[in-house]
Amino acid sequence: MNSQKIHHFPVLKKEIVKMVKEKSSDEGKVVFIDCTLGLGGHSATIIPVLFGKVSRIFLIDKDRESLEIAANFLKQNISFGDRIKVNFVNTSFGQFFENFPNVGEDEFLIVLADLGISYYQLKYGVGFGFTKESFLDMRYDKEGDITAFDVINYFDYEQLVDIFFRVFENIGFAKKLASVIVEERKRKEIRTTFDLNKAVSKYVSAKVLKDTLQKLYLSLRIFVNRELEELEKLLNFFKKVPNRFLLLIISYHSLEGKIIKKFYKELATSVKVKKIKPSKEEILANKPSRSAILWVIEK
Ligand SMILES: C[S@@+](CC[C@H](N)C(=O)[O-])C[C@H]1O[C@@H](n2cnc3c(N)ncnc32)[C@H](O)[C@@H]1O
Repeated sequence: MNSQKIHHFPVLKKEIVKMVKEKSSDEGKVVFIDCTLGLGGHSATIIPVLFGKVSRIFLIDKDRESLEIAANFLKQNISFGDRIKVNFVNTSFGQFFENFPNVGEDEFLIVLADLGISYYQLKYGVGFGFTKESFLDMRYDKEGDITAFDVINYFDYEQLVDIFFRVFENIGFAKKLASVIVEERKRKEIRTTFDLNKAVSKYVSAKVLKDTLQKLYLSLRIFVNRELEELEKLLNFFKKVPNRFLLLIISYHSLEGKIIKKFYKELATSVKVKKIKPSKEEILANKPSRSAILWVIEK
């Protein structure tokens, strides 16, 4: 990736900082966990607010390159204080929370998960966007076992239908798309984003092509990176942990929203929930923020 031109606009940053300021004011023992560090934009504004209140910080990203860029940036620009334990963790947050038993019950957990992909990965990563030709990779974690190329070329028809149906929510269309891909790959390996676009464009009208590709790429990215399973693992931890917490999740599509809603309904009255959307000004300044929802879940 190109580390010369680095940018990602942290979504709902002001609202998040305000919540963290309010909720951490009377806490002595805060543990701050950024599940999706990305380029560190959110953490760079949250950590100074927690100065004097936080004892442990975990900054996680499964994309090693993003984590390294963010770690350099934060070490140069943020004062963590001498007594704070800061851990940069290159893993998935699902795995992190499955192996995170050492929480003191009196610790107040402030946890941010800004789900999905960063603008940086979309622009410089491999295979994520359909407007640029590259290998169909789509892994955040370059050591991950499955690429989108493997899915498109080697998964059987039924598996493809399942993957597409999750996002398209239309079984007829999911089946059509799966059979198009199975037919095309008999002729020639579908290796790049443009190979995939070409295969789909033979069967889908120009009017719906862009929307189809957007959903198709989303379905592949979600599958390759096990995004919904990761979210469920994160939420499973918060179902059981006895601690007080402030859980801030930024979701970008309805599949994530459904999982979050199911989670807080199960916890019923033991949590308080608030939904915040970006202002018109933010959407104008940063178009990708238009689909974001900040879920503030407190216990
Ligand atoms: C939307 S970006 C976060 C941007 C970040 N908040 C910032 O201000 O720069 C999402 C990041 O989460 C990472 N990510 C996605 N799923 C993950 C997972 N399950 N575990 C760890 N990191 C993940 C991606 O690699 C990406 O860097």
